[in-house]
Amino acid sequence: IMFRTSDGVGRHVAHEVAALIRERNAAGKATVLGLPTGSTPVGVYRELIRLHREEGLDFSNVVTFNLDEYWPMKPDSLHSYNRWMRENFFNHVNVPEANIHIPRGDIGRIEVEEFCRQYEQAIVDAGGIDIQMLGIGRTGHIGFNEPGSSKSSRTRIINLDPVTRRDAASDFFGEENVPQRAITMGVGTILSARKVFVMALGEHKAKVIYKSLEGPETPEIVASFLQSHENVEFVLDAASAAQL
Ligand code: GLP
Repeated sequence: IMFRTSDGVGRHVAHEVAALIRERNAAGKATVLGLPTGSTPVGVYRELIRLHREEGLDFSNVVTFNLDEYWPMKPDSLHSYNRWMRENFFNHVNVPEANIHIPRGDIGRIEVEEFCRQYEQAIVDAGGIDIQMLGIGRTGHIGFNEPGSSKSSRTRIINLDPVTRRDAASDFFGEENVPQRAITMGVGTILSARKVFVMALGEHKAKVIYKSLEGPETPEIVASFLQSHENVEFVLDAASAAQL
């Protein structure tokens, strides 16, 4: 689905999410969301906050799992996704603190595997992810599943691709300050979600969107694995859809 502007992309996804939350709230059931960071989803969060403030959209029965976090990374660091999520979303809505799950960038190396196993288990215990929202990196990554990630991969620690570290350099005041590693949900974790929205904005994403949608399914472009998901929607602005 294509919109002329980035606002259209954000609003469309936010309204789909809000519709599910309202339906579940009415039935007294929880809604489980998989959440991304980055510049792309900002419009979704902005619209969800507006719906909360102006229309009383209630997040008290929403459970969230974030896709990824740099490692090592302190939760309150300027660069952490944990802090980003609080500033851009959680501080402005009523998701209960106990329902918020974000990979921990502050755990020791030897505890990482056990943490990742527990993260997967928490998703299962919550009943699985209803809606997974995604951005896409120029390497074709979803979450931080860089080229070479397997389709069945689960939450784990990974090495970041040089292109990804270069793209993050301006946020970190220099590429040398970008962490080498991150914890990310796996491709298999993402593919287990019942509905997936992939969002992309801007000309610099046009090539990777073309490869993801029209190229072969390949671990070189991890987002291409989404082609085999039965309920995925790519929500694009005109610039990122330009090569389709
Ligand atoms: C980071 C995140 C991804 C995100 C990507 C694109 O690498 N880990 O989840 O999709 O950046 O970011 P942006 O939306 O800023 O282009």
